[in-house]
Amino acid sequence: MYIKDLSLHEEKEITLQGWAANKRESKGLVFIILRDGTGLCQCVVDANKVSEEIFAHAQKVSLETSLSITGTVVKDDRQVGGYELQATSVTIIGGSVDYPIAKKEHGVEFLMDHRHLWLRSQRQWAIMKIRNRIIYSIHQFFQEEGYIQMDAPLFTANASEGTSTLFETDFYGEPSYLSQSGQLYGEAMAMAMGKIYTFGPTFRAEKSKTRRHLSEFWMIEPEMAFHDIFQNMDVIEAFLRKVVSDVLAECKNELAIIGRDTALLENIVKPFPRLTYDEAVKIIKGEENVNGVNAIESLEEELKKVVARMEEVKAEIAEREEKIKVPGMKKGEIGFNQAKIDKLKQELADLEEDQRNIPGWLNSARNFEYGNDFGGSDETVITRLFDRPIMVYNWPHEVKAFYLKRDPNNSHFARGVDVLAPEGYGEIVGGGERETDLTLLVDKINEHKLPMEAFEWYLDLRRFGSVPHAGFGLGLERLVTWVCKLPHVRESIPFPRMYGRLKP
Ligand code: 4AD
Ligand code: MG
Repeated sequence: MYIKDLSLHEEKEITLQGWAANKRESKGLVFIILRDGTGLCQCVVDANKVSEEIFAHAQKVSLETSLSITGTVVKDDRQVGGYELQATSVTIIGGSVDYPIAKKEHGVEFLMDHRHLWLRSQRQWAIMKIRNRIIYSIHQFFQEEGYIQMDAPLFTANASEGTSTLFETDFYGEPSYLSQSGQLYGEAMAMAMGKIYTFGPTFRAEKSKTRRHLSEFWMIEPEMAFHDIFQNMDVIEAFLRKVVSDVLAECKNELAIIGRDTALLENIVKPFPRLTYDEAVKIIKGEENVNGVNAIESLEEELKKVVARMEEVKAEIAEREEKIKVPGMKKGEIGFNQAKIDKLKQELADLEEDQRNIPGWLNSARNFEYGNDFGGSDETVITRLFDRPIMVYNWPHEVKAFYLKRDPNNSHFARGVDVLAPEGYGEIVGGGERETDLTLLVDKINEHKLPMEAFEWYLDLRRFGSVPHAGFGLGLERLVTWVCKLPHVRESIPFPRMYGRLKP
């Protein structure tokens, strides 16, 4: 019996099993909010209706005690979930003394140290439900489109995305590396099966703390024979559209719990703007506007607005702090003002962060050098101007991976495509059409100083029945982070692994 199914059992006696998410007592009544992983339900234990022994059990319940409660299901729209359980029996399964995560605010490092318990909180629960829905929709999309799921090895003998982020490990005395991407194997599988996708963990030694980088993350990598870069972009667009629409349709409750404003996510139904690298650079540098908005000027204006608003907020905080100091103010009014002050302080903290960040964005936009890859700031600058994901394609070949096809119309460019998510999130997908020219590929492997011998099998794919093909990689956690509008990627995965965090 699960809380999510209570509506099927109105007025009947049932038994729920779960954990106490909250408990309060008043005048012969104990109210327990039970959590069972599918939802929350208030259970009322009335001293007049149960034995003394049972009531004593209920009184002993503390935060995160596990228990089983039997009672009658009563419809009550005022309660969380819309139902209440009027208990006839309470049995404690496992006690919980001094649960470390109390109601008061904890710092994020404390919560991360207690990730194994933090996962039980409502917000984390909602994020994990959305992550689960995304995974489900990913499989649904590819399976329904006739893709075969295959799995790439995780122990590999070579790099695929450049050598700087490899985790080295020992494979029976031979050096080996944890996979950065399943793509090269995906290409081999696509030559066998036509359209495939891999979905597995990937590893990158990213020795810096950013809000976008994990050391271990899950990647979905489709690879399609007989597809060029434009067909690849069509697949990316249809794929993201389905996944995000499904979340909007199926996770309304979860999105509400985390307070996600979904207005921008709804735009996923509109076509994604496709820009060449050259066009994107002009926008970043402020040489070209987007719908009349200039990247540099809009940032300058934003900065001015931030500073002005900071002054207003500071003044209002000071004013309210003076007000509550005056003796004689009613308790309720003090509480009201204190709540306002707390809210304003939070706003001020956000504004201060903007004040710190915007000059950096401005600086990197003004000084962007044509030919460079985009950094996090550049992605923020350009995606701020759009209300949906954008696709940037045709990158200078020097800044992209060795396997990307050179643009037949202009050999300076490689046929790579990055999808950048709006609201400042930046890259969520990287992909492109693959090089089929054996000579160009060999040159690139040498240029990147990769061990040719480890790539002989990969070159075979060009020697025996080579065909145009393309694919992409979506970082699952980057997508979850954007869809949930999380401040940091660490909350998008059950147990994050990143620079400085290996436990719990
Ligand atoms: O752009 P990347 O490096 O591309 C590849 O690995 C290709 N082989 C994919 C392909 O074409 N099959 O990585 C793809 C995506 C990024 O767009 C990003 O979403 C995610 O993987 N990603 C990370 N996510 C979290 N932490 C990191 N350190 C990530 N590095 C990449
Ligand atoms: Mg990339």
